[in-house]
Amino acid sequence: MKISILGAGTWGIALAKMLCISGHEVTVWSALAPEIEHLTATHTHPIFPDIQLPEELCYTADTETACKGRDVLLIAVPSPYIRSTARSAAPFLEKGQILVSVAKGIEEATLFSMTEVIEDELGPLVSEKDLKIAALSGPTHAEEVIRSIPTTIISACSDIDTAQFIQEIFMNTCMRVYTNTDIKGVELCGALKNIIALASGVLSGLNYGDNIKAALITRGLAEIKRLGVELGCCEQTFYGLAGMGDLIVTCLSVHSRNYKAGILIGKGYSPQESAKEVGMVVEGINAIKPAMRLSEKTGVELPIISAVNSVVYEGASPAEMVDRLMQRSMRSEI
Ligand SMILES: NC(=O)c1ccc[n+]([C@@H]2O[C@H](COP(=O)([O-])OP(=O)(O)OC[C@H]3O[C@@H](n4cnc5c(N)ncnc54)[C@H](O)[C@@H]3O)[C@@H](O)[C@H]2O)c1
Repeated sequence: MKISILGAGTWGIALAKMLCISGHEVTVWSALAPEIEHLTATHTHPIFPDIQLPEELCYTADTETACKGRDVLLIAVPSPYIRSTARSAAPFLEKGQILVSVAKGIEEATLFSMTEVIEDELGPLVSEKDLKIAALSGPTHAEEVIRSIPTTIISACSDIDTAQFIQEIFMNTCMRVYTNTDIKGVELCGALKNIIALASGVLSGLNYGDNIKAALITRGLAEIKRLGVELGCCEQTFYGLAGMGDLIVTCLSVHSRNYKAGILIGKGYSPQESAKEVGMVVEGINAIKPAMRLSEKTGVELPIISAVNSVVYEGASPAEMVDRLMQRSMRSEI
């Protein structure tokens, strides 16, 4: 297959390397020309300087070159750049191409998932060119995938044939791919688990124990599921890899930038300082306001997400965040 990866961050590069090793013809595109120059000159990524990327991997800063003649376009930029990336690609899209989002977020202005943002931005082009739009999500840290460490992921699309087509492309000895037609549920899990991971980091930063972290993961899942079911998603999605799986890895892994940002907040850094220290987009912080608006819109209570909101946007201290969650008045039924 001919595949382009739009976005040269850690996740885009890890997937590019994996697909290249699987024998696909892969090109990486970035809106930032210096990134392409660095990759072309060194065949390494600045975050993984010790990993040599395959010689066959191609790089371009030209959007037409990236889109032309490709079977699949993988959109691998952080959520704030999804719309602008879809807009850049739009004039060069060709009939029957499959667009796959791997970003995890909710657009603040519209409350759209990432594939909904792409669909909205492309408008009538989607049916005119018979484009298919899918999402890949799950417990998948780039730091492990780039080292070919076994990983699982969900290929999500309302059209099962497209989900299975993507499954075939990504399945190899290091990656096992499952399918799910509940794309909204899969994407909601990917966006909201990052907020729970911030809370998990805060608990670590406060030197709290494992009991409360187990409670956080369990109750975090209950909260995400409650909202998802109200939004029409399938309950089973939340107990699968995109839900429980991704929540576990994000809340516990040293590779999670949301968890790292939370640790710093727990240690007394401001949310702004912690995001700066982490140095990359912290999707959990971006997702808080849209999640709060979804809670308002649906009337579904999100106690953990509200508590994280109180620390990030309302000046509450990390210890106050936990006290708030332990209050007797908080919801305590299943
Ligand atoms: N890193 C992971 O392990 C991982 C795993 C699964 C999903 N994701 C999701 O994938 C998405 C990308 O994550 P990442 O870790 O690769 O992020 P990253 O911070 O490493 O990516 C930054 C990249 O985004 C692109 N970019 C920056 N500014 C841009 C702009 N103005 N316009 C267009 N592109 C721009 C550049 O190519 C840059 O390298 C996120 O939504 C993340 O949640 C990441």
